[in-house]
Amino acid sequence: MTYASSQDPEIMRSISASAAVGDPLREYSIAVVPGDGIGGEVILAAQQVLDAACELNGGLILRYCNHFVGFEHYQKTGDVLPYSVLKSLQTADAVLVGAMDVAAFPSGVGDPLEGLRKGLDVSASIRRSKSYRGVEIPALPIDVLVVREVTEGLYSGVEYAAGQDAASAVRIITREATTRAAKIAFDQAMMRKKKVTAVHKLGALKISDRLFLDAVETIAKDYPNVAYETRNVDACAMELIQKPDDYDVILASNSFGDILSDVAAALAGGLGLAPSGCIGPDYAYFEPVHGSAPDIAGAGIANPIAAILSAALMLRYLGESAVADLIDSAVSMTLAAGEIRTGDLGGAASCAEMTSAVIHAIRQVNHG
Ligand code: NAI
Ligand code: MG
Repeated sequence: MTYASSQDPEIMRSISASAAVGDPLREYSIAVVPGDGIGGEVILAAQQVLDAACELNGGLILRYCNHFVGFEHYQKTGDVLPYSVLKSLQTADAVLVGAMDVAAFPSGVGDPLEGLRKGLDVSASIRRSKSYRGVEIPALPIDVLVVREVTEGLYSGVEYAAGQDAASAVRIITREATTRAAKIAFDQAMMRKKKVTAVHKLGALKISDRLFLDAVETIAKDYPNVAYETRNVDACAMELIQKPDDYDVILASNSFGDILSDVAAALAGGLGLAPSGCIGPDYAYFEPVHGSAPDIAGAGIANPIAAILSAALMLRYLGESAVADLIDSAVSMTLAAGEIRTGDLGGAASCAEMTSAVIHAIRQVNHG
């Protein structure tokens, strides 16, 4: 299956063979991992929106299978990511994930996100940050896609203490993982504004980021129609604020992409609006960029939009771009109307109220 986004800055579309709305039965198995904290709340919201969209577009059936993975589950069972769960995720057509309290896992046992990324052999996480009409932003309007390598770099998991007062983390960069992420970045750029900026810190990381840039440059040669630039990661963070229009697709190693995607998300209105998809050759999973937000978990006030947009990305990956468009349009409409907003967007609406507003907008878009 191919995942892609369009040149249209408003709407991401799939280049895979899209099923038209109203085609005879299309059925997909969706493995759902709500996870910890607000994960369960926002995933329930995303499922309600998916159900409403499917209901209006006869013929699309999503069969969910829920799996319990996360810190809460680890505390009860001692399992980080059971092999049987990983196998089930591999047999599903796509996987929808909430959030996990990964920081709570003790050192040495791994964590389920790392397990998902390695077990599903994903190449990169794609994270689009786009400003919406009706949402206040701290700087200039932005529309960038951060493509983050997610299996190695500074988060390789190779870390050790050297005595009481020193510790090291090994930053692993390989040509293979960089090449896979770079191909995704250039493929995405082909369907956007045809520009890739690879970020690095060559001055400090002379060997590992030299290899990173060499690998990306090799791929860049296969895409003569895509402009290719490099930028120091700190300069990129600054320029995202000062001149976001200079950026289209930003390709980054693991930790740089982690940080830059949160910067971009904040510039586009916050983590509550930031969706992502982790894409590999055989499997993919979709999750909001945010984490389990323990500070607001259980209060019913989480913004469900990031999870809802992640569910729409999942539909594109499945080739259901018409239904994904419907959800994206409903989200844009809800945000533009500005009547219902969660706390992170300056309002007082609950997660359930925001979800209902999107479902209401889906019905309006569909009839419009
Ligand atoms: P976080 O993303 O959970 O929260 C950061 C801030 O943003 C908090 O103030 C939170 O309330 C707010 N926030 C996040 N999502 C929101 C939403 N949908 N609506 C309204 N406000 C929202 O990051 P934090 O606090 O650094 O991490 C908490 C836990 O989540 C940690 O264990 C961390 O490792 C984990 N994490 C997991 C991720 C994943 O599962 N993919 C990604 C990022 C963090
Ligand atoms: Mg992050």
